[in-house]
Amino acid sequence: MKDLLSIADLTEEEILRLFIRTKELKERKKRGEKVIPLLSGKVLGMLFRKASTRTRISFEVGMFELGGGAIFLSDEDLQLSRGETISDTAKVLSSYLDGILIRTFEQKEVEDFAKYSNIPVINGLSNVYHPCQVLSDYFTLWEKRGLKDLKLTFIGDGNNVCHSLILGADKLGVRLSVITPEEYQPKREVIAKVKNKKNLIFSTRPEDFIKDSDVVYTDTWVSMGAENERKKRLMKFDGYQLNKKLFKKAKKNLLVMHCLPAHRGEEITDEVIDGPSSIVLEQAANRLHLQKAILTTLL
Ligand code: CP
Ligand code: NVA
Repeated sequence: MKDLLSIADLTEEEILRLFIRTKELKERKKRGEKVIPLLSGKVLGMLFRKASTRTRISFEVGMFELGGGAIFLSDEDLQLSRGETISDTAKVLSSYLDGILIRTFEQKEVEDFAKYSNIPVINGLSNVYHPCQVLSDYFTLWEKRGLKDLKLTFIGDGNNVCHSLILGADKLGVRLSVITPEEYQPKREVIAKVKNKKNLIFSTRPEDFIKDSDVVYTDTWVSMGAENERKKRLMKFDGYQLNKKLFKKAKKNLLVMHCLPAHRGEEITDEVIDGPSSIVLEQAANRLHLQKAILTTLL
């Protein structure tokens, strides 16, 4: 494993190894070992072309807690914004940095970076995938209740987070129902990567799946870069909100997940996201531990 571009590139064994390492780092921190200098002297570059709260800060703090350093690189401040090529940028940055985290629009850009650089490249979200988020989310479920016989339902936009959930479910043997409006189904090329298709169900009707679900997951209806479609999307996603009415038929111990940032009152109500079933803050907190496991594995 040189890079982390997509969950498709990982084996089940590699994912479980990451989970065990995450758990160990999390427990050591809980016991008071704030800095574990496994990466002392190493520097991670963090190139962001989109906004971020969790990804940026968990990686930056993660590097600090591993004894290394991190440099935030805004695309506007780099020569990339004046037309320098990805290949030149990737080659040059490879000679300064020990790894690079990239959040951008096109998945191809992350892949090109990996192609031209000889340091590990980590996908911190593209329009197609969000592997760091989803690895952390499956870690949260693995730690909390185990993944055996888990029935996960994703309701919302079949976009980057949903795509990574699909690939993760396939690797980890989780049964996943993906409920989206017709026009917002996951991309065919992502579904084509799924080996065990019988564990993956598609529907446009949230109410049909709720009573069998152990976990319900949602994401914003208006992802970064889709802001100009906002009005149309709010109309198309009407009926896909996680709210109390939808949860009437749900299991008592249903868990609710969201990658955040949440658009309260759109894909999820305050009552649900702040309610007793919600584990969104636990998900967000685990990002730090999981990023540290990724960093120590790759760097
Ligand atoms: N979930 C997530 O990636 O959050 P940020 O956009 O704040 O990094
Ligand atoms: N689907 C969202 C995820 C944010 C973490 C987006 O791409 O904006």
